[in-house]
Amino acid sequence: MPTTVISGSASGIGAATREAMLAAGHRVIGVDLRNAEVEADLSTAAGRAAAVRGVLEKCGGTLDGLILCAGLGSHVSPPSLAVSVNYFGVVDLLDGLLPALQKGQNPAAVVVSSVASSQLSWDKNPLAATLEKGDETGAGIIVDNAGEKGGSLAYAGSKNAVTVAVRRRVVEWGGVDVRLNTVAPGAVSTPLLDAGLNDARYAKAIKDFVAPIARHARPEEIASMIAYLMGPQAGFIHGAQFYVDGGIDAMMRPTQF
Ligand SMILES: NC(=O)c1ccc[n+]([C@@H]2O[C@H](COP(=O)([O-])OP(=O)(O)OC[C@H]3O[C@@H](n4cnc5c(N)ncnc54)[C@H](O)[C@@H]3O)[C@@H](O)[C@H]2O)c1
Repeated sequence: MPTTVISGSASGIGAATREAMLAAGHRVIGVDLRNAEVEADLSTAAGRAAAVRGVLEKCGGTLDGLILCAGLGSHVSPPSLAVSVNYFGVVDLLDGLLPALQKGQNPAAVVVSSVASSQLSWDKNPLAATLEKGDETGAGIIVDNAGEKGGSLAYAGSKNAVTVAVRRRVVEWGGVDVRLNTVAPGAVSTPLLDAGLNDARYAKAIKDFVAPIARHARPEEIASMIAYLMGPQAGFIHGAQFYVDGGIDAMMRPTQF
């Protein structure tokens, strides 16, 4: 039975993905703050190291899949928390678990980024230089001192950087036959979206962000794309970002792809 790790497995997209992977016949090792096989706090370097150790103990050093869903929205305080989880909570697990994936069968990984990743370009991302250097403190200082824009900058900046981080790994990972892709959801009905809608600072922007398919996605509609990308039918898909967003990226950036 293939073994797949899912971060953020206790809620929302991660929980729906857990169901989809169980249905596809995988053993799942969930990583989350609570209600998971490995309970760890991905917002700190020590928590991320503990997550990698805990996973390696549970899987015996061999993994077939890695799906990174854990993330925080624009509303969290301080905003640096979102950068730590959304960016470092991904790259530290990707790098820490690649050796175990290399020993797996048809290994693959998917990172849940966001449609927000393309609302900011890399050359205009104020977090680009600090994140690429691995400077968690420096990136945190930028967003925590950005005033009322801090939350949005932390979210879009970390999601833009995490998509770039995946694309930067495409040669190394392809060379060892481990596929790696991102999924970029639009608005999905989860506790994360609800928290934004209940926050006066972000509610209007979220409500005004209406996709051509004018509803919120169900978490299962993201999970089904992730499950597809993890399977052998996606064997030549590597380094790609898939928008599951009701058409909003195409509407906002029709000439850029
Ligand atoms: N819901 C949306 O509209 C939407 C849109 C685009 C992208 N996303 C992305 O999808 C992913 C999943 O979000 P969701 O909407 O399912 O949210 P959610 O809040 O339902 O689930 C997120 C999970 O991440 C976990 N998590 C948060 N901080 C953590 C930490 N420090 N350590 C370990 N686990 C932690 C939470 O406990 C939770 O189980 C996130 O990366 C989010 O940015 C969501």
